[in-house]
Amino acid sequence: MTTFTDLVGCSVPIQLAGMGGGISDAPLCSAVCDAGGLGMLGGSGLTPVAAMLDEMGDRTFGVNFLMPFLDQQAVSLAASRAKVVEFFYGDPSSELVDLVHEGGALAAWQVGSSDEAAAAAASGCDFIVAQGTEAGGHVRGGTALDELLRSLDVNVPVVAAGGIGTADDVARMLGAGASAVRIGTRFLAAKESCAHPLYVSALVGASSGDTVLTEAFSVGWPNAPHRVLRSCVDAAEASEDETIATLRLGAADIPLPRLSTVPPTKATYGRISAMALYAGTSVDAVQRREPAADIVAELTSML
Ligand SMILES: Cc1cc2nc3c(=O)[nH]c(=O)nc-3n(C[C@H](O)[C@H](O)[C@H](O)COP(=O)(O)O)c2cc1C
Repeated sequence: MTTFTDLVGCSVPIQLAGMGGGISDAPLCSAVCDAGGLGMLGGSGLTPVAAMLDEMGDRTFGVNFLMPFLDQQAVSLAASRAKVVEFFYGDPSSELVDLVHEGGALAAWQVGSSDEAAAAAASGCDFIVAQGTEAGGHVRGGTALDELLRSLDVNVPVVAAGGIGTADDVARMLGAGASAVRIGTRFLAAKESCAHPLYVSALVGASSGDTVLTEAFSVGWPNAPHRVLRSCVDAAEASEDETIATLRLGAADIPLPRLSTVPPTKATYGRISAMALYAGTSVDAVQRREPAADIVAELTSML
């Protein structure tokens, strides 16, 4: 249907954003794959990546890695099992791209500027993801999506990311030359998402004007701008608690400090409203919790 769907072997030009902090886990990734899109796992250390890969069965999916927390062994393992291995938030590296290709996967990079896009293409990436400043989560560049797409000069397929929430947005992005769209915030409210229910309620009640680009949630990852709901910045800054919540992982209780970058999932207990509630301007289109397949069907309804 597009160069992206042909390349990765999915049936609709929708990519689930790799979302760290446990958000893009195997159930959400599988649901997007089963709806015809490219599901992505949020990659972290070797052990959690191995466990998630085992849950994916024979689906066609990808794994996303954040460069500041890169585990090369996990990259190699992901490349041997996934269709796509993708990186974000660091200079494109031909060594890493070669590592992915040696494992048998396609390589991609999410970028925030035309220079970074050119560097990613030159490093051998099979496609790039162009992220505009409308995006939820960490934001790499300083350019809005429409302008970023117009500025690109690369000879690989481009996936558009940031603030895309409606079927109209999807059709417009493909009309502007993108081969696919990458969706984060809308899938936070998927039935299969492990985002904390209070996080989802806050998204349903918010509009794009309630989001803000900030560096407030910096513990563990400083100097990295991110888009969140303004209400959580206010709540976190007003709090005097050192520990804001606890993450329950198996038998372990992990304390999360105030202004930690970790978003709240169903495994989090504490002051959810004062945690990093990442949201893109696409939050306008988050109206209810619904199956990922319904979100995919709605977003592709004008294609
Ligand atoms: C909760 C959340 C976590 C995110 N974590 C990551 C991540 O780990 N890696 C990454 O490449 N992008 C991450 N992003 C950014 C997305 O890849 C994507 O650029 C963004 O979601 C697109 O904008 P949208 O949220 O308006 O759809 C995250 C986004 C959100 C909302």
